[in-house]
Amino acid sequence: MVGKMFELSIIVNGEKWQVKASGTETLLEVLRKDLALTGTKSNCLEGECGVCAVLVNGRTVNSCILLAVQCEGAEITTIEGMATDEGLHALQSAFLDHGAVQCGYCIPGMIMTAAGFLKENPSPTPDEIREGICGTLCRCTGYKKIVEAVHHASQNMGVK
Ligand code: FES
Ligand code: FES
Repeated sequence: MVGKMFELSIIVNGEKWQVKASGTETLLEVLRKDLALTGTKSNCLEGECGVCAVLVNGRTVNSCILLAVQCEGAEITTIEGMATDEGLHALQSAFLDHGAVQCGYCIPGMIMTAAGFLKENPSPTPDEIREGICGTLCRCTGYKKIVEAVHHASQNMGVK
């Protein structure tokens, strides 16, 4: 049985979209399937790993556990919205410069988590960064280079 569909207005990476979603569809599904924004990754689907993190109205959320219908009118930023015509976001550059990217699967979520964290704490210590990103799991590596990259980005601001 096809459930009721809801029409939503959302702003994604600065662009306005009208989308239809069922009452059980998540923001992650809408981003990946309807908008083809596949930079946001899908893994546990239980809010545990953080790879699906995006910013909703400036705050980091795990998009696999947020219903799309809860996002009416929201401003959403995904990894695709981080770089601009002027170049990569400071976090993206820092991750590359510090060798913090291995397979890359967790990196979009890691960067969106760090972006939300730095909005609230623009000058964190490495320990604060470790705590701030602890909800995002990287299966490739320790977190040393990731923490260094976030720390470097915070010091060089330009972080939006
Ligand atoms: S896929 Fe969303 S938290 Fe793991
Ligand atoms: S870089 Fe591979 S899971 Fe984090």
